Amino acid sequence: MRMYDIIKSKRDGHVLTTEEIDFFIKGYTGGEIPDYQASALLMAIFINKMNKEETVALTQAMMHSGHVMLLDSIPGIKVDKHSTGGVGDTTTLLLGPMVAACGVPVAKMSGRGLGHTGGTIDKLESIKGFHVELTTEEFIEQVKSQGIAVIGQSKNIAPADKKLYALRDVTATVDNISLIAGSIMSKKLAAGSNAIVLDVKMGSGAFMKTLEDAKELSKAMVDIGNSMNRKTIAVITNMDQPLGLAIGNALEVQEAMDTLKGHGPKDLEDLCITLGGLMVYLGKKALSPQEGEQRIIENLKNGNAYAKFVDFVTAQGGSIEALESLPTASYIEPVNAISEGYVMHIASEEIGTAAMHLGAGRKTIDSVIDMASGIVLNKKVGNFVKKGECLAYLHTNDKSALVEAKISVLNAFSLVNQAVVPDPLIQAIIE
Ligand code: URA
Ligand code: CA
Repeated sequence: MRMYDIIKSKRDGHVLTTEEIDFFIKGYTGGEIPDYQASALLMAIFINKMNKEETVALTQAMMHSGHVMLLDSIPGIKVDKHSTGGVGDTTTLLLGPMVAACGVPVAKMSGRGLGHTGGTIDKLESIKGFHVELTTEEFIEQVKSQGIAVIGQSKNIAPADKKLYALRDVTATVDNISLIAGSIMSKKLAAGSNAIVLDVKMGSGAFMKTLEDAKELSKAMVDIGNSMNRKTIAVITNMDQPLGLAIGNALEVQEAMDTLKGHGPKDLEDLCITLGGLMVYLGKKALSPQEGEQRIIENLKNGNAYAKFVDFVTAQGGSIEALESLPTASYIEPVNAISEGYVMHIASEEIGTAAMHLGAGRKTIDSVIDMASGIVLNKKVGNFVKKGECLAYLHTNDKSALVEAKISVLNAFSLVNQAVVPDPLIQAIIE
């Protein structure tokens, strides 16, 4: 088999065989196939697309390019969750304990963030003492004893995807449904869970700008999961503003705790109930998604979800004292509206970038995150704002970052004269 012939076949619009796709992924990961040939094939795929079978073959090949977690020794159906690029998305912190409290084991592999705010692990590390350096055995033991554990993403999870994603990034071949779906699902499948709930963001700040595109991506990912016997459901959610109020590491941990105690932001709580309900249903602890939601609501009300969060944090080195003394910023500055109006849109990207400049995210791979910094919104889409009223609070230890962040936040808010009815957060569920 020759890489040249595979490129030519896709260039001419043919369907690639599973053997050809395996040959490409093995050869590229192993370094025998050079970047220039991989780039040519990616562009041919981008232009001529891949069908469902090719997409599944690509995903499987990438999934098996590295380590695949085996969670079989943990009893029960393990359900994972993934969000495609939210800003200040606190859902993962919340869903783990919510779902574990309902009896569904959560064996979560998570990453650090590069960009706006930290990843789930960075957020959790804002809790003094918390660590994710568990061996696989410790990780599995903790899921068995506590029902939940979070481990750092191994470097050897889907290495083919890592290499290809970097190449796509510089060859204008990121925005292809099969390539995105395969990339996301190869990592999720290698992480070992039996079922997956996907939160696919749509809107101006998301990968998928329209409902139609978001549906197509969702369908592709659901097809991949189902064809590999990992039941997958996707929820398409509107990203015309950040979810919840907090964007930043310790700020989001605080927001997660508030929500687990029943006084968090409504949009965040609602979405977690929907996603959590689906996870409980897929974990076979409820007969329908609606019953799953009921179970989640019960466990929020009776305090079990919060108790599970505390147990989980304690099992991984944190403590109640650490949760009660999260890092706080030396400067907390309001951003006040310069005109009045109804909030029509809050650009998530812009808010995320402002949070990063305040210290909440990494500008480069080795930047150090300021756990206390970030943004807390004071107004959301649909609210009326008077001139001079506070739109959001900036939290930072770096005074020099305030001016620029303030301008970004002002730019992020679009105000209009007529009343605004927010679009529904949940746009569609694809299964
Ligand atoms: N996220 C990924 O992990 N891969 C993509 O291709 C796009 C988004
Ligand atoms: Ca948030």
